Amino acid sequence: MSTHVVVGLQWGDEGKGKITDVLAEKSDYVVRYQGGNNAGHTVYVGDDKFVLHLLPSGVLQCKGKCIIANGVVVNPEAFFNEIEKLEARGLSTDHVFISRRAHIIMPYHVLLDEYREEFAGKDSQIGTTKRGIGPCYEDKVARVGIRAIDLLNPEILKEKIKENLIVKNALFEKLFEKNPLTLEEIYDKYVAYGERLKDRIIDTELEINEAIDQGKNVLFEGAQALMLDIDFGTYPFVTSSSPTTGGVCVGAGVPPTKLQNLIGVSKAYCTRVGNGPFPTELDNELGEHIRQVGHEFGASTGRPRRTGWLDLVALKHACMINGITHLVITKLDVLSGLGNIKACTGYKTEDGKIINYFTSSTNKLDSYEAIYEEMPGWSEDITSAKSFDELPQAAQDYIHFIEKYLGIEVYLVSVGPERSQNIIRTNLF
Ligand code: GDP
Ligand code: IMO
Ligand code: MG
Repeated sequence: MSTHVVVGLQWGDEGKGKITDVLAEKSDYVVRYQGGNNAGHTVYVGDDKFVLHLLPSGVLQCKGKCIIANGVVVNPEAFFNEIEKLEARGLSTDHVFISRRAHIIMPYHVLLDEYREEFAGKDSQIGTTKRGIGPCYEDKVARVGIRAIDLLNPEILKEKIKENLIVKNALFEKLFEKNPLTLEEIYDKYVAYGERLKDRIIDTELEINEAIDQGKNVLFEGAQALMLDIDFGTYPFVTSSSPTTGGVCVGAGVPPTKLQNLIGVSKAYCTRVGNGPFPTELDNELGEHIRQVGHEFGASTGRPRRTGWLDLVALKHACMINGITHLVITKLDVLSGLGNIKACTGYKTEDGKIINYFTSSTNKLDSYEAIYEEMPGWSEDITSAKSFDELPQAAQDYIHFIEKYLGIEVYLVSVGPERSQNIIRTNLF
């Protein structure tokens, strides 16, 4: 058997989509296991740009099946939008399937997300993508969610929507002072979605486990990243799922004993979109330079991403929780021509103590000062480098520094957005 898991190690947008696309070529299955259409995964094929939100990024290259597993929250409208866009570009999507157990994002989830952010006010907003992700996961845990399988049974669906509307409309009208929703405006639309989806809704956990047992190559694709994890991220400025390697077990129904290569993706620097602490943030000209050169604007919402130096303390925490066996460093090319570069190796607390572990106290993190190791940079364009030896010595030294700090080998260095702009140091298949 050969299983690979790709996860983000920072605050998302590390280039997971690009790496998944590359690995998907040799995969029989590509499986999304958490998150929803809050994700934005970019894949460049030559000059052609594809941005995937809900569909697995392996959809372009995988010749087997692409699965949206039970741990994902599915917005049917977003699903069909993406399917239609790909088909309009001549791509087949007949190989995309959804778990019967996956929870469905309903119109009231999207509205709740929006109203809640508005109600919280600027200082306490999370800065969500307003896709209804949090409210949908809340309903799942509260055991009042609507699952893909319910779309195939109109009677059950009607009852569940009715029950949900009692509570949601009370919130809309009494707390948020907004208009209520009616059963009619939701029900017919979702029955129609069920009708359109019926051949794609399957029992995915059985199929995935059988595929692994038969020795097929199965790739699990994480969305978001560890620092946005509901447990181990910068709570409450996080998403509502577990974008970890462990998340695969619950999000796809695969036991830990079946997971082999745990691939963590990190940029050569840091970005964050949305609110919350960011110890190495460069809220200055240099940060703006990185934003422009790295095209750091959200793939889902278009928001400018906050930028900063690589945070090795946070990265070490991410590698530990995920048990990363193989590292990918992306966007090394963006650091070309910066002069000296820095990486954070510790934090100075308010009382002057130096710590080198990631704290659970999100409030305190804001007051920490990042301690940096400064290294010589390089000025060469590295976007066409094909082997590690072709990189300038300073770029090689930077990668070695990261490896030494984390104690994990960098198996792939990405030097540009295109599918082929990779320096692969270890063959995983
Ligand atoms: P994801 O959410 O982790 O899949 O990442 P996004 O697609 O949201 O953001 C990563 C952005 O960086 C995309 O625009 C990619 O095309 C781009 N990208 C990925 N790898 C590289 C790289 O090595 N160099 C450069 N310059 N861009 C890259
Ligand atoms: P990919 O898969 C970057 C952020 C949002 C917000 C927080 C909660 O492309 O890396 P949510 O809508 O999930 O409730 O928002 O999480 N966020 C992401 N940031 N990349 C993502 O996905 C993200 N998905 C959610 O900006 O701060
Ligand atoms: Mg993204």
